[in-house]
Amino acid sequence: MEGYEMAIRILGTGSYLPDRVVTNDELAEMMDTSDEWIRTRTGIGSRHVTEGETTSDMAVRAAEAALKNAGIDAGEIDLIIVGTFTGEQLMPNMASKVQAAIGANRAVGFDLSAACSGFLFSLNTAYCFMKAGIYQKALVIGAETLSKTVDWDDRSTCVLFGDGAGAAVVGLDEGTESLFIMGSDGSKGEVLSLDARPLKTPFSMNPKEVNPWMTMNGQEVFKFAVRKVPECIEELMKKAELSVEDVDWFILHQANVRIIESVSKRLGVDSSRFPVNLDHCGNTSAASIPILLDELNRSGRMKRGDRIVLSGFGGGLSWGATYLVW
Ligand code: ACO
Repeated sequence: MEGYEMAIRILGTGSYLPDRVVTNDELAEMMDTSDEWIRTRTGIGSRHVTEGETTSDMAVRAAEAALKNAGIDAGEIDLIIVGTFTGEQLMPNMASKVQAAIGANRAVGFDLSAACSGFLFSLNTAYCFMKAGIYQKALVIGAETLSKTVDWDDRSTCVLFGDGAGAAVVGLDEGTESLFIMGSDGSKGEVLSLDARPLKTPFSMNPKEVNPWMTMNGQEVFKFAVRKVPECIEELMKKAELSVEDVDWFILHQANVRIIESVSKRLGVDSSRFPVNLDHCGNTSAASIPILLDELNRSGRMKRGDRIVLSGFGGGLSWGATYLVW
């Protein structure tokens, strides 16, 4: 369509982290670990952990901050998508709770489950609705309560994660078309998994026990991420007819600083263009990208016109990258 506006425009960002900070030293008092082990393996120094706030409570706080930052009234939002796999209820979904709490009366809302790719997939989904002319303004949120999914007796997983939420108010603008790549490999799904409710009914034939905790094969996740993320960013660059040198910021899902360093090395891009907030947030899954976006936005590090690549990857397995101009 001639003259049609094609670029994603992030109009405002917001984030919310629970007040309670749990340091590595505090974890070392609870289990056989150390600040040194956690920092050198992951880059994490502390994480925020909820003392009672739910996933939707945090999503609402992030959404309110993003609307304020964008200078937009909740009534102008047409679409709310919450990337999460840790909602406090399966029904109603988190997006409906956000819609009610912020008074976005015109908006339709739904959740999108894609683990650590959740925000990126939600953003791309919102973009498609807007590009098709169906909706004009969206609120895209990543919100997670990972502290309830990990076994606090398992030092190999519980030290990695944190709770929090990030949000972006998104519209369309004239300018360079935004582009994205997304992928899934369900055959490797067991590498990162979390069971849902058990099928235990008077009719079920072989009731299976469910594991209440997240399980992870850390080395497989590492191998997957350091191969797939550079590959999909390179594919995206080709599609956008750009080189990695043209990109100001690579905003990756914050899983692990060694993954981020490896991606920067493989792409041949200086690590200063890969911002990191793992040190104080840990891995917040779908929330990590929008929390980091909000930090960069509010600190003024990221300037209008900067070229940005976002990349999410994780459970599914799933991965993706999006190119946009800030
Ligand atoms: N403190 C101290 N020692 C520990 C801890 C801990 N918290 N956790 C594990 N160890 C021990 C293990 O028991 C093992 O001891 P052993 O040799 O006596 O058996 C030793 O450390 C090495 O364990 P590995 O699992 O081999 O440790 P590795 O060097 O692979 O590091 C890690 C583990 C950090 C998880 C790594 O595999 C990794 O970075 N994986 C990427 C996974 C990731 O980032 N997941 C996040 C979620 S998924 C996502 O967001 C995409």
